[in-house]
Amino acid sequence: MFTNPAIRRFGAVGILAAAVILAAAWPIGVQAFGPAGEDGGDAYIGHPEAERAGEELFGRNCQQCHNTRGHGGKCPQLVRGAWGPGGANSDRFLFETIANGRPNTQMGAFGKALSAPEIWQIVAFLRAEASRVAAADRQRKADPEADLWY
Ligand code: HEC
Repeated sequence: MFTNPAIRRFGAVGILAAAVILAAAWPIGVQAFGPAGEDGGDAYIGHPEAERAGEELFGRNCQQCHNTRGHGGKCPQLVRGAWGPGGANSDRFLFETIANGRPNTQMGAFGKALSAPEIWQIVAFLRAEASRVAAADRQRKADPEADLWY
């Protein structure tokens, strides 16, 4: 297609640049959850460092009931449907549920054991995980043979 070697080279660089731009734009998609600006989670949601911190907090505080990475088991999953990208539950609702718990269920209130930033970090992790689950679901739809962990 491209006979001039300079153009050919640019083609490869161009594709690489597009991939880099897409990767950089990914967190913007993650931030599309819930109403931005009004719920205090903006400093955390979509930020890789917060997501990593949240992953560790989730492992220590939540995993034993909600299973690995919140994928559910004996307790509800937290990464699909109403909790997934574009789902009905806002960041604030997720925050409040974690902070206040669910009375008369095993779901305790974490508002004393964890600080507000820590709870937001967990929310950031769950939102990022939900995006990965959604991406894997899309990929599986396109290629049912795809060998995916998610
Ligand atoms: C001792 C087990 C246990 C632990 C630990 C636990 N949860 Fe839960 N969680 C539950 C149960 C049971 C429910 C379902 C409550 C109900 O019936 O409404 C629940 C519900 C929830 C919900 C609402 C889910 C829905 O579909 O309505 C969220 C969000 C949640 N938990 C987040 C967390 C997070 C984040 C942590 C860690 C900070 C955590 N939970 C720790 C048992 C637990």
